[in-house]
Amino acid sequence: MRVSATLPDSELPRQWYNLAADIPHALLPPLAPDGSVLKPEQLSALFPETLIEQEASSQRWIDIPEEVLEILARWRPTPLVRARNFERLLNTPARIYYKNESVSPAGSHKPNTAVPQAYYNKLAGTTRLTTETGAGQWGSALSFASAQFGLECQVFMVRSSYDKKPYRKVMMQTWGASCVPSPSPHTRAGRKILEAQPDSPGSLGIAISEAVEAALEDSSGKTHYALGSVLNHVMLHQTIIGLEAKRQLALFGEKSPDTIVACVGGGSNFAGLSFPFIKEKIDGANIDIIPVEPASCPSMTRGLYAYDFGDTAGMTPLLPMYTLGHNFMPSPNHAGGLRYHGMAPLVSAAAKQGLLRPQSISQVECFSAAVQFARSEGIIVAPETSHAVAQVIREAVRAREERREKVILFGLSGHGLLDLQGYAEYFSGDIANTPLSEEELDSSLASLPKVGPAL
Ligand SMILES: Cc1ncc(COP(=O)(O)O)c(C=O)c1O
Repeated sequence: MRVSATLPDSELPRQWYNLAADIPHALLPPLAPDGSVLKPEQLSALFPETLIEQEASSQRWIDIPEEVLEILARWRPTPLVRARNFERLLNTPARIYYKNESVSPAGSHKPNTAVPQAYYNKLAGTTRLTTETGAGQWGSALSFASAQFGLECQVFMVRSSYDKKPYRKVMMQTWGASCVPSPSPHTRAGRKILEAQPDSPGSLGIAISEAVEAALEDSSGKTHYALGSVLNHVMLHQTIIGLEAKRQLALFGEKSPDTIVACVGGGSNFAGLSFPFIKEKIDGANIDIIPVEPASCPSMTRGLYAYDFGDTAGMTPLLPMYTLGHNFMPSPNHAGGLRYHGMAPLVSAAAKQGLLRPQSISQVECFSAAVQFARSEGIIVAPETSHAVAQVIREAVRAREERREKVILFGLSGHGLLDLQGYAEYFSGDIANTPLSEEELDSSLASLPKVGPAL
């Protein structure tokens, strides 16, 4: 009886898959703040050339450099596990599989892109990277990757997570990075927010503004910015997850999943797992592909598809995406990595083109799901990942009610061993759902920039 399918490192995918090559309606371009189409060179103050090329590429397969593979091979291919005990607990005829990305050094899928981003920066002569982090997973992943290539790394960490997850900061320090809470007094963007609201819990949008500003400030050109989600090149790097999962499902004798589930913040672990299967869906396969977001930050289920800034201060290009408005301030729920106002343009386009079925779930149901998963399978998942687990339970229960065997594949994007404060508050009953009112949503959407075509 097979429980886990591990592949030898000789089976590591050698190329990433680019959905931009196959998505039925071509991706809309990013825009400059004046509404003109962004020229790739306008990104060169932030990113090295190879990443800018990947950002705009419509080539289907892109080679993974040997130097990157050598580092990824320390923990990849990651296991694909059949959640038999979870199936028993749910008394479901569904066969549930999870792709376990929590086995990386930083504890999540984030190093899959941190390593190539640090590598391409090193090749281009960058000596320092700046970035933001929500829950701390991305900040620790980039700190780890920077250490591999001898780069300095400065991380702006969303204040609410910084206070709740002090050990994430220690991880970053251990890998040689510096980590400051955002909003911070170190940047104009941070100071402006602090003047208006000294106790601001921060948001990913604000932290991105600070990290971008810190990179642009260095006129030597040796400081670059790195983003852990949202952009096309990040989605690309994460596809190694789904490419491995396809081979591993075959080892279990499964042809193709019926349902794929992953949580979405900016969209990268979801994209990584699902994009290789979206290709199959475009080619005719019948797969229900479900991105799951928090009910308190519902960009895909309640936001608008529009051009919007990627950050709060409006320093980034305008991206075509599902958004709640770049001024949106999500409630400080425990899934810090899902508190982002927008969604990756590629994920947004796939949803807009009818390839996805987005869902949103409140945090109490998510923690309850995570506890059931921990008690049956053993792994204590990150609060972000708990959104995927909660949706899997809904799907497994539906399969039971319909007496239908089906194959559910879900992304276990990270462990929650440094997120136990959230679990503690769940057990003491101190956790609440924080629904988003129509008024809050309308006032945030009113901040959408009035440039670019209506979508
Ligand atoms: C464990 C985990 N899962 C999911 C996410 C959400 O990001 P993304 O949608 O880019 O996968 C994060 C972000 O910090 C995370 O730490």
